[in-house]
Amino acid sequence: MEKLRDTFTGKVGFVLAASASAVGLGNLWRFPYLTSHYGGGIFVLVYIVLAVTFGLSLLMAEIAIGRKTGKSCVGAFMDFSEKHRHIGILIAFIPALIVPYYCVIGGWVTGWFFESVTGNLSTIATPGYWWSFVTGGEGGLGGPTLWFAVFTLMCIGCIVLGVTKGIEKVSRVLMPVLLVLIIGITAYEMTLPGIWDGISFYLSPDISKLSSSTLLGAISQIFYSMSIAMGIMITYGSYMKKEVSIEKSAFSVCAIDMCVALLAGLMIVPSAFMFGFGDSQGMGLMFSSLPQVFAQMPGGEFVAPVFYLTVIFAAMTSAVSLLETVVSVVFDKLKDKKGMSKGASYIVKRKKSVLISSFLLIALGLFVTFGFPGGPFNIPCVLDQGAGWLGIFDSLTNSILMPITAILTCLFIGIVVKIGVIDDEIDQGGTAQFRLKPIFNIMIQYICPIILTVILITGLMAFF
Ligand code: PHE
Repeated sequence: MEKLRDTFTGKVGFVLAASASAVGLGNLWRFPYLTSHYGGGIFVLVYIVLAVTFGLSLLMAEIAIGRKTGKSCVGAFMDFSEKHRHIGILIAFIPALIVPYYCVIGGWVTGWFFESVTGNLSTIATPGYWWSFVTGGEGGLGGPTLWFAVFTLMCIGCIVLGVTKGIEKVSRVLMPVLLVLIIGITAYEMTLPGIWDGISFYLSPDISKLSSSTLLGAISQIFYSMSIAMGIMITYGSYMKKEVSIEKSAFSVCAIDMCVALLAGLMIVPSAFMFGFGDSQGMGLMFSSLPQVFAQMPGGEFVAPVFYLTVIFAAMTSAVSLLETVVSVVFDKLKDKKGMSKGASYIVKRKKSVLISSFLLIALGLFVTFGFPGGPFNIPCVLDQGAGWLGIFDSLTNSILMPITAILTCLFIGIVVKIGVIDDEIDQGGTAQFRLKPIFNIMIQYICPIILTVILITGLMAFF
């Protein structure tokens, strides 16, 4: 990754790369199903408020930590204080738990692409198909595992062949296509009789549905979707040039990520409501409701494959950036081979780290594909969200570990690094001053750690 350090040529370069990591299945798959689960409009409202306060502040803080130290997560924490490196290690652990299930869902998208391109749109549009697919007659050995393998091999292939940059370039072309498709599909849905009740469910907040779980769900979604609280934005910050404005860049990334999520929600939640899915599809909402829309849509058999293809690319850029993080952590842990030149040792270590990370990814991914109810690895657990190991990994990372690491990062900045150091780093780039400084300081030092602790504790109490 060392070679990449100077990659971002300016604000646009940084924003494009960070958005490519941020925009992915979090926006398209996770946000809509959580919105349906937590009562529609109220979740959307809480999400927006928390994203522009907590999300934006933490995003700026992480980018600043990365740029100040010029290092990725573990190195960055060590740079400030050797004693606190364990916070960096805890953070770096999170992508290793996310990437396996991310690839399983990437596999579902790949499978849905295959079915739609081979003319089987009506199969995936059959009510209940998603559930029978994931719980597979053979306990996950059929479709889910096969498509997980295909998607995972594509991601590992990108890293092994060193074409990550190429994938990012393709995705820069495909992302606007995805956006146009989302808007087009949503516009079509507006013509369907019965959609307006769904739109009202999505847009009008019902305060009586607000609970501690809604808050924890929203905060977990913000972290996941903006790729924060897991070290990724620290790494991206380490590649950012000093003259680029952290404040403006973070604002752009936050705005892009939020807009894509809100649009994806508008495309999926009202139509799912209209089809009467309620909360019954759980994590499968996107996979159950969209095929039904495509099946009714004039030209849907052409729109569906293009849509799924663009989602595959959005998911791949995110999955590859998660996997790269795991690879770089394993790389840092491996010892240099004695008697080997630096270049040769780098290549050996890089190969070994890709191998170890891929092994871990595949092993944990198999737990997920075979872990749905009825599967051989299923162990019912309060965290499983009815989806076995997928739910357990998702809850563990997003609802527990990420809030904890976000609280620790705030405390670390407030107590060890001192907020002034981070302020100075943010103040450095661009011509404009750091305008949000007073709010940022209060957020990071007081509001984020205190409120996040309250949300975490009350949210978890509701879980158990
Ligand atoms: N933010 C990505 C998404 O919304 C997920 C992700 C998290 C990607 C962390 C990279 C790193 O899908």
